[in-house]
Amino acid sequence: MHLVRTVSELHATLQPWRAAREAIALVPTMGNLHAGHLCLMETARAVGECVVVSVFVNPLQFGPGEDFEKYPRTLAADRVLLEKTGVNVLFAPTVQDLYPGGYPPATAVSVHGPLAEILCAPFRPGHFDGVATVVNILFNLVTPAVAVFGEKDYQQLAIIRQMVADFGSSVRVVGVPTLREPDGLAMSSRNQYLSAEERRRAPRLIETLNWAGEQLNAGRRDFAVLAEEACVRLTGAGFKPQYLDIRARDLAPPTTGTRMFVVLAAAYLGRTRLIDNLSIGPVLP
Ligand code: PAF
Repeated sequence: MHLVRTVSELHATLQPWRAAREAIALVPTMGNLHAGHLCLMETARAVGECVVVSVFVNPLQFGPGEDFEKYPRTLAADRVLLEKTGVNVLFAPTVQDLYPGGYPPATAVSVHGPLAEILCAPFRPGHFDGVATVVNILFNLVTPAVAVFGEKDYQQLAIIRQMVADFGSSVRVVGVPTLREPDGLAMSSRNQYLSAEERRRAPRLIETLNWAGEQLNAGRRDFAVLAEEACVRLTGAGFKPQYLDIRARDLAPPTTGTRMFVVLAAAYLGRTRLIDNLSIGPVLP
């Protein structure tokens, strides 16, 4: 595996694959890799001849007071892990490499429309602009045929798909189902912020989403009331929910005719913000 730190090194390293017209599969990450990430690498391995993993904690997607400074940076351990997974290139640029014109960049992607107004967006102003900007830069630098993202960040994945469509990009975006701990907690680098007591409570998030899913499967269609009841359950379990929302799979508001749902939530447990989602359906009419 090649560890490359600069854009010129990246181009030199990718040159043989480009010359052979072999498919590059990109897995963008912020590092601190865990088993959930390794599923993304496996998917990339299956669809591309050359797998590039980027590790970059992108300052542009963190708001004031968020965890940019404390976000775990573990490049040495990430490198050891990736050596074992058949990844060809680990691209770990600096802020200067990724934003060569200076930071913050003068040109950035701005996400509009319904996807930029719901769920996490009002709680993290500018977050999805920062994500879309860095992903667009990575697409331009790496020129992947395929890019692989986790479905845990469901709204992020939808926004990246929208960006690819809006920009006429030829990158094929592939989503990979969330990997969970044995007790159901979605794997996330942020789980390590949890105290032992919080970690014990954390699976109540997916349990609540499961409960809402069971209600949908049982025929309930009073979406707002159901979401509110689920929120109350989360609060009772010690969470401070930002939202719990029931949507159609494309994140449009559900109707009584919707058969494929996704239930999504973001909630604080202590000082840690957790997100998760659960796809439900097809439900019976
Ligand atoms: O999901 C993440 O880890 C990040 O948002 C991403 C896609 C790597 C962009 O920084």
